[in-house]
Amino acid sequence: MEATNIRVTLGRKEILHGIDFKAEPGKVTAIIGPNGSGKSTLLKTLSGEITGAGTITLNGSDISSLQPWELSPMRGVLPQASSVAFPFTVLEIVRLGLARGLAGADEHLPIQALKHVDLAGFENRSYQELSGGEQQRVQLARVLTQVWETPDSSETKWLLLDEPVASLDIAHQFTVLDIARDFASRGGGVVVVMHDLNLTALFADTIYVLSQGRVWGSGAPSEVLNDDMMRDVYGINLQMNKTPPTQVPFVLPQAMYQNT
Ligand SMILES: Nc1ncnc2c1ncn2[C@@H]1O[C@H](COP(=O)(O)OP(=O)(O)O)[C@@H](O)[C@H]1O
Ligand SMILES: [Mg+2]
Repeated sequence: MEATNIRVTLGRKEILHGIDFKAEPGKVTAIIGPNGSGKSTLLKTLSGEITGAGTITLNGSDISSLQPWELSPMRGVLPQASSVAFPFTVLEIVRLGLARGLAGADEHLPIQALKHVDLAGFENRSYQELSGGEQQRVQLARVLTQVWETPDSSETKWLLLDEPVASLDIAHQFTVLDIARDFASRGGGVVVVMHDLNLTALFADTIYVLSQGRVWGSGAPSEVLNDDMMRDVYGINLQMNKTPPTQVPFVLPQAMYQNT
C-alpha cells in the first residue's frame, strides 16, 4: 500500500498537508500522534472512504479506479466508533462481513471470527446491550469475516484498524493485537492507529508519527519513539526508557514528576 502526497480538506480546512505513506504485506504499520493530528482522516483516506488529492495504490491498483465490490475483499476497515441504530444480534452484525450477503455458503466464517475475538457464544446476544469493548470486538469479527478467507488468496489482504484496543481490557488488548500480528504473519498487511505508545513499541514493525496533518517521522519503534518526538509531537518533556532484555522503548509517566 503506497500513498503519495495526500492532501485532504474537510469542511474548509486542509487536514492532511501532503502525506507520503507506505505499508508492506507481512508487516504491522502503526500510525500514532496526538488527538486531532489526522490519524483517522488518514486511515479513512487509505481505505477509500474519503477522497483527497494525491494517489493511493493498493496491490498495484490506484484505489480511485476500483469499484467498492473490488475493494471490499481486499481490505477490511475497523472504524474508531461504529454506531448501530437497530436492534441487531451479534451474529447479524458479523455476517455483514460476508461477501455473499445473505447466501449461506460461508456461514462458518462469522462463527470462527467470533471465536477469534473471544466472543464464542455471543451470537444471539443483542449488540446494543454489549459493553463498548465487546461491541468493538464484534466489529473486528465483522472485519475479519470480510478479509480472513477469500477464494483468490494470491492477492494481499489488508486490515485497516482505527484504535482497535482503545476500549479493551489488557487481556483483550493482547487478543486483538495477536490477531493483527497473526494476520501479518500469514502475509496480510496491517495498518493500525494506536494511542498506547508502549503497546505500539512492542507490536509494530514500522511507526508513522503524525503531527498536525503531517508526517513528523517514520521508522522502526527504536528510531521514532524518542525524547525529541515526545517533546516535538506531544509537548512532553521526559526521558524515554528501554526495557533491558529487548531494548524496546517505553514511556513511564511517573518519570515526568521525578528528578526534574
Ligand atoms: N468531517 C470533518 N469536518 C471538518 N473537520 C474534521 C472532520 N473530521 C475531522 N476533522 C478535523 O480534522 C482533524 C483531524 O481529525 P482526526 O483525523 O479525526 O484526528 P485523530 O484521529 O488523529 O484524532 C481534527 O482537527 C478534526 O477536528
Ligand atoms: Mg481518530
